[in-house]
Amino acid sequence: MTVRKIIFEATQKLEEAGIPSARLDAEVLLAFLLRCDRLAFIKNPDDTLSKKQLADFDRLIARRAGGEPVAYLTGRKAFWSFVLKVNPSVLIPRPDTEVIVEEALSVVRQESWIRPRILDIGTGSGAIALALAREIPDASVTATDISKAVLKTAQKNAAALKLNHSIVFLEGDLFEPVGGRFDMIVSNPPYIGAEEYESLPAGVKNFEPEEALRAGQTGLEFYEKLIYQAHGYLKENGWLLLEIGARQKQEVRAIFEAHKDFYERIDVREDYAGLPRVIKGRRR
Ligand SMILES: C[S@@+](CC[C@H](N)C(=O)[O-])C[C@H]1O[C@@H](n2cnc3c(N)ncnc32)[C@H](O)[C@@H]1O
Repeated sequence: MTVRKIIFEATQKLEEAGIPSARLDAEVLLAFLLRCDRLAFIKNPDDTLSKKQLADFDRLIARRAGGEPVAYLTGRKAFWSFVLKVNPSVLIPRPDTEVIVEEALSVVRQESWIRPRILDIGTGSGAIALALAREIPDASVTATDISKAVLKTAQKNAAALKLNHSIVFLEGDLFEPVGGRFDMIVSNPPYIGAEEYESLPAGVKNFEPEEALRAGQTGLEFYEKLIYQAHGYLKENGWLLLEIGARQKQEVRAIFEAHKDFYERIDVREDYAGLPRVIKGRRR
C-alpha cells in the first residue's frame, strides 16, 4: 500500500471516530513513526511501508481514534521556540499559554530589571519557565509543581534545552517550597470548575491529568490563594501574572480588586482569538 492510500484510509478512520483534524493527525503520526517531515508524503506519495511500520501505524491510529491526544502519542509538543517532551503526567502546553510568556517579557522590558528573580508556580512540562529562562538569560528562574512526576519531566525538558543550570525546580504546594521575594511571579494554574470539567472534550478529560485542570467547585480556588499569598513573595513593584480561562476575567479581576491594598495597575491581556487570557497586577 502506498503512503497516499495509507494516509487516506487513516484519515477516514479518524473522521469516523469524530476526530476533527483527521488528515493532519494521520500525517503527523506517520511522520513521527517514519521520523521524517510531513512534506515527504507530498514529495513521495507512492512510497510504501514495511509490514511492521504498517502495524505500528495502525496501532497509533487506533489510539488516536480512541481520543488519545497526538502529543501523548508522539511524546512531544511544540511551544514557544522549542519542542517539549510530554507524557500523561503533564498537561499538554497550549498555544494560548504563549501569551503569558509574551506579557511577562513585556513586563521585564518595561521594568528594565537586571538579573530578575522569576517564579513559575505549577510549571507542568516547564513551558513558561523554560521560555522565560531562554529569553531572559540573566534571569534566575524558580519553577514549582506539586507533582514529583511532573517535575521530572520539566527537568528533562530543561536539560534537553540546556537550561538546567538556569532554573531551580522545587516540589510543593503553591508557595510552600519557595523562599525570598521575586520580581515576577507567573502561573497558569488549574482553573476548571466542577461543572465545566464534566463538559470538557473527552480527549482532555480522559487523558490529561485532572490535578492540572480542576480547581474546586468554581474554578477560582487557585486564583484566590495565589493572589492572596503572592504579595508576600513579591518584591516592591514586583508583578503577578496569571493565565485565566476565557470566561473568568470579571471574577479574577474582582479577586485582585479585593486585595487592592496589595496590588495596583491591574490589567487584562487578550489572546489572539480576542479572549481574555492573562491578568496582571503590580505589588504596591
Ligand atoms: C494548568 S497546568 C499548567 C502547566 C504549565 N505551567 C503550562 O502552562 O502548560 C497546572 C499545573 O499546576 C500543578 N499544580 C496543581 N496543584 C498545585 C499546587 N497546589 N501547587 C503547585 N502546583 C500545582 C499541576 O501539577 C500542573 O502541572
